[in-house]
Amino acid sequence: MVLKMDSKNILITGSGSGLGRAMAIRLAKEGHNIILNGRTESKLVETKELLAKFNVQVLIKVGDVSDSNFVNSMISETVNELNLLHVVINNAGISGIPGPIIDISEREMQKIMDINFKGAWLVSKYAAKVMRKQRKLKPLNGKIINVSSIAGKEPMPFVGIYSCSKAALISLTQVLAKELAPKITANAICPGYHITPIYKDDPDLIRKYWNSIEMKPLLKRVGTAEDVTGLISFLVSDDSNYMTGEIINIDGGVVLK
Ligand SMILES: NC(=O)c1ccc[n+]([C@@H]2O[C@H](COP(=O)([O-])OP(=O)(O)OC[C@H]3O[C@@H](n4cnc5c(N)ncnc54)[C@H](OP(=O)(O)O)[C@@H]3O)[C@@H](O)[C@H]2O)c1
Repeated sequence: MVLKMDSKNILITGSGSGLGRAMAIRLAKEGHNIILNGRTESKLVETKELLAKFNVQVLIKVGDVSDSNFVNSMISETVNELNLLHVVINNAGISGIPGPIIDISEREMQKIMDINFKGAWLVSKYAAKVMRKQRKLKPLNGKIINVSSIAGKEPMPFVGIYSCSKAALISLTQVLAKELAPKITANAICPGYHITPIYKDDPDLIRKYWNSIEMKPLLKRVGTAEDVTGLISFLVSDDSNYMTGEIINIDGGVVLK
């Protein structure tokens, strides 16, 4: 394996579409090796094809982040194949079926929490155990980046469990930052409304949604998946090495209103 001077091995969960795929393209373009993950192999193969021109190593790990056996194997296989794991980006997530929180079934609640919260915790847990042993890396042994949401900061009606799961992810980020310092950092991003399959790739549906809950971006446009990639690139880079426990909005000014 050829590792360029500042090339990192980066696991991005949920990278078969949307924000995760856009992050994979940006980071591969910058020369990083990418580990793609998701439950649907065909989507990961499509992402891999989009990365082919960047001449970096790309691994595919098909599986569910809420399954601890899978996550444990995904991390150990990655280290066996690439030797080091520099960064994990916990991006896999689902919004669930919209509806009043008192009408959500227990099963639906559990599914959202399992993927959005437990999945990020499992990946962080197994990744941090590996990162701690990577003592030759300086000054940091590794980085964890969580993809929360403005819904984790501002309670969002009718996607209530999603909101709760994303708030839990903010707390997870801060606990990880405290417990894993000084050698591993943990930060989170909070995107706003971005055109991706989570909103059926439909800007009108997003606008309808934000009108209904009176949360409009100051920048007066729907975000794209690419809009988050500059921030991700910064968080992956050594320029952010002195940041940990930060929860950063990237939402066109939705939360500020
Ligand atoms: N788009 C937005 O406006 C927005 C705003 C704030 C936060 N976010 C967050 O950004 C992240 C990415 O969302 P997106 O908008 O890019 O939607 P997306 O295109 O639906 O991406 C989510 C990805 O996660 C994967 N995934 C779902 N469950 C999984 C599991 N159990 N294990 C592994 N992978 C799984 C999906 O692929 P498979 O179904 O094939 O597994 C999919 O590729 C999510 O965490 C979302 O909550 C999005």
